[in-house]
Amino acid sequence: MAQIPATSSIESVSTEKRVFAPPKAFSKTAQVKSLAEYRKLYKESITAPEKFWAKQAKQELVWSRPWKKVLEWKEPVAKWFVGGQLNVSENCLDRHLGTARANKAALIWEGEPAAEDRPGERRVLTYKQLHHEVCRFGNVLKQAGATKGDRVLIYLPMVPEAAIAMLACARIGAVHSVVFGGFSAQSVADRIFDSQAKLVITADGGFRRGAVVPLKQNVDAALELKNAQGELLTKSIEKVVVLRRAGNEINFQAGRDLWWHEEIAKASANCPAVPMDSEAPLFILYTSGSTGKPKGILHTTGGYLLYAKLTARYVFDLREEDVYWCTADIGWVTGHSYVVYGPLANGATSLMYEGAPNFPEADRFWSIVERYGVTTLYTAPTAIRAFMKWGVEWPKKHDLSSLRLLGSVGEPINPEAWIWYYETIGGKRCPIVDTWWQTETGGIMISPLPGAIPTKPGSASLPFFGIVPEVVDDAGRPVPRNSGGKLVVRKPWPGMLRGLWGDPKRYQQVYWTEVAGSYFTGDGCRQDKDGYFWIVGRIDDVLNVAGHRIGTAEVESALVSHQKVAEAAVVGRPDDLKGQALVAFVTLKSGVKVDPGLQDELRQHVAKEIGPVAKPDDIRFAEALPKTRSGKIMRRLLKQIASGAEIKGDTTTLEDLNVLAKLAAPDE
Ligand code: PRX
Repeated sequence: MAQIPATSSIESVSTEKRVFAPPKAFSKTAQVKSLAEYRKLYKESITAPEKFWAKQAKQELVWSRPWKKVLEWKEPVAKWFVGGQLNVSENCLDRHLGTARANKAALIWEGEPAAEDRPGERRVLTYKQLHHEVCRFGNVLKQAGATKGDRVLIYLPMVPEAAIAMLACARIGAVHSVVFGGFSAQSVADRIFDSQAKLVITADGGFRRGAVVPLKQNVDAALELKNAQGELLTKSIEKVVVLRRAGNEINFQAGRDLWWHEEIAKASANCPAVPMDSEAPLFILYTSGSTGKPKGILHTTGGYLLYAKLTARYVFDLREEDVYWCTADIGWVTGHSYVVYGPLANGATSLMYEGAPNFPEADRFWSIVERYGVTTLYTAPTAIRAFMKWGVEWPKKHDLSSLRLLGSVGEPINPEAWIWYYETIGGKRCPIVDTWWQTETGGIMISPLPGAIPTKPGSASLPFFGIVPEVVDDAGRPVPRNSGGKLVVRKPWPGMLRGLWGDPKRYQQVYWTEVAGSYFTGDGCRQDKDGYFWIVGRIDDVLNVAGHRIGTAEVESALVSHQKVAEAAVVGRPDDLKGQALVAFVTLKSGVKVDPGLQDELRQHVAKEIGPVAKPDDIRFAEALPKTRSGKIMRRLLKQIASGAEIKGDTTTLEDLNVLAKLAAPDE
C-alpha cells in the first residue's frame, strides 16, 4: 500500500480559507435550509440509524410486503429491510401513474449527430410512455427466456432503450449488468463468464463523434472467445437482443439473435412487476480493483433504491419542475444511480445525452442546457477542465440562466476548475455539490447539501445522513485533524455493496481487512479543522483517469499478453486535463527490437484487451524494471520517473532504469 500524502495536491491553504456561503435565495426553498438543520438531521441519523432509515423507507418507497427487521449486520454482510418485498420498476414508474406526473417527461433524450451536418435525434418519454415500453420489453425478456434471478448483460449506447432495458430487468426480477460501450469484446466475454449471463442486449452500433462504434460486432467477437483450456467463455448465453440504432450492417445469427423492434412489436404491455425480496440482487456492475480482473460489485433492491432516491433528492435538491441532467454514461454507477434510479424514483425529469461534449462543436453541452432549460447539471472535473481549455466563448454563446445547481463527481476537482465552473457556468448564483462516492457505495456519501452546507472549492465537505466516514492511520485509529490518512466508513448504510459476485472471500479481503471493523474505501483523505473531508485520491493501485477507474494490474496483464512483451509496470502521473494519465514501463522479450510503431501497437493491444479507456498515454521501454532485493517492482520510483522526466522523443532507445533503482532505497 502506498504512503498517504499529508495534504492533497489539489488544495492549498488559501483555497481552504475560501468559503462560499449557500446563496440566500437558494436556501429559502431548499430541502435543508441551514447548516444547523443539517447537523440536527445528521445527528438523528447516526444516533438512531435504524429508526431514521425505517422512517425513510416507509415514506419514500412502495412496499408489497413490509419488512420485519430494518438491519441485520454481521460484518461484512449487511441485510436491510429484511423480509420486505418491493419492485424497483414499480417504484420508479407505476407509482407516478396515478398522479399528475403521469404525463410528465421522465426521460428527455438528445442523440449524438450521425454526422457533423446532421442534428442529433430527440425524444421525450413521459412516465406513462416509459412504463409502457418497460412493460413491453419486460415481456420480450421473458419470451427470450429470462426469469427472476437470471443475469442479463446490457451493452448499449446512451439511448432511452438502455434505461428501458435496466428497468425491464428490474420489473421481472432479472439482474442486469451494464457494460460500458467503450469496453472491448474481451471485457464483454469476461463479464459474461463471471456473471453467467443468459442474455445480451446490444445495438448494431452507437454514434461517437460521427463514427459508428460497432457494438454488435464486439458482442459477436465476445461470443467466440475461449479461455486457456479452449472452452468458450460465453456458453451461458442463449439469446442476443439487438437494437437498430446506427443502421450499420451486422451479422445476424438466426435462432440466437433477435431484433428489438420485431420482438417488442409482438409484446403485450401487460407485465406485472414481480415483488422482489428487499435483498434480491438488482444489478452487478464491474469495476477495477488493485489486483486481477474487475470485480462484480453487487447491489440489491430495497436499500439501494432508498439510498439512490434519498441522496438524489437531497443532494440535487430535486424539485418537480427541474430539468435534471447527469452527463454520465449508463455504463458507470453514476448513470445507474443518478440518470435512472434516483431521479425516476423521485418522479423527476432526467435528461440523457448520447454523445461527446465537443461534437459537432465545443458548445454541445451549453446548447442542450439552453434548449431544454436544464436546471441541474452533474458532470465530471475532466469535462470541466476540457471546457476551460476550449474557452469561454462557447458557453458565452448560450443562455445558461436556467441553471440553478451544479454538481461534480468521479475525481477530485481542483479549485481552479471549481471556480471556473462556479463563475462561468453557474453565473455565481448556483451552489456546487462536489460529491464523493464509489461504485461500491451505491450513492453519494460525502457532499454539500445545497442551501445548507457552505462549500470550499476542492472539498466534498460533509457526510450524508447516516454515513460515518473517518480518516484513520494504519492501525485504524482516527488521525488528528489536518493529517492525512485512510478514508474508512464505520457503519453500514443501505446503499452499500452487498458483496462481489460469486466471491465472498475477495469481498472480505478487499474491503474489510485493511482497517478492522470498517469499510475501507481505497482513498486517502484529510479532514480540516471544520471537519470537511478533502479526498486526496486512490492510495491503492487503482488509477482515476478522466474519472474512469482503471486498475494498473489489469493494464499490466493486458500488456504482458502481447507476444513481444516480457514485463510491464503501469503507474499514474498527474495530467492537467484527465487528472491522471497512464504510463506503462515495458521490457521486451529477448531479441525483440523497439521500433517506432511498437508504442502504438501496444496501445492498440490494450484497447483490444480491455477497451480504449485503458490505453496507456505513454509507453516507455526499459532494459529491466527497477526492483527491490525481494523482487518487488519499485513503483514509487517509477511514479517519480513518470511524472518528472520528460518523455524522450526517441522511443527506440531503451532506458536503463536499474541505474536509477540503485540510487533509490534498496527496499521500498
Ligand atoms: O477515488 C475516488 C474517486 O473515484 C473513486 C470511485 O470511482 P468509481 O467507483 O468509478 O465511481 C465514480 C463515481 C462515483 C473514488 O474511490 N472519486 C469519486 N468522486 C470523487 C472522487 N475523488 C474526489 N472527489 C470526488 N468527488
